Amino acid sequence: MKLDERMLKSLNEQINKEIYSAYLYFSMASYFDSINLKGFAKWMKSQVKEELNHAHKIYDYIYDKGGVVELEAIQAPKNSWESPLEAFKDAYEHEIFVTESIYKLVDLSKELNDHSTYNFLQWYVAEQVEEEAQTKNIVDALEFIKDEKTALFMLDMELGKRE
Ligand code: FEO
Repeated sequence: MKLDERMLKSLNEQINKEIYSAYLYFSMASYFDSINLKGFAKWMKSQVKEELNHAHKIYDYIYDKGGVVELEAIQAPKNSWESPLEAFKDAYEHEIFVTESIYKLVDLSKELNDHSTYNFLQWYVAEQVEEEAQTKNIVDALEFIKDEKTALFMLDMELGKRE
């Protein structure tokens, strides 16, 4: 069964949002590299790959369903932040935005009785719980650390362990 036009358009828009997420996190990686927080930068570079994977999965799904992917322009991300905390607060806010976008897709799949897309999207629903939690945990850690340089250095080492 082919995808409804509205669903196809919304899935294409979600690809754009996932690629924008990758672009935003690449920009955050650059910010962290520029202030010599190499572990934070590495964490963000891993996140870039995850976001591209999120986009890729939707791309494949659209073709599995006989649709066509149409890529649009990617918005330029912000390039600098006041502090690591401000960057991670932005990352957390962004993940909430992505979750809301996924929920709208789920709502549309229900409205259209599109069972296969509903099922496909459940992976994203679960993934967003993780995406929000991991960024929120780092926001909490940075709020706890405040301006304590040794603790920031230790968190940088910890985040640098991400594969
Ligand atoms: Fe693809 Fe971080 O949500």
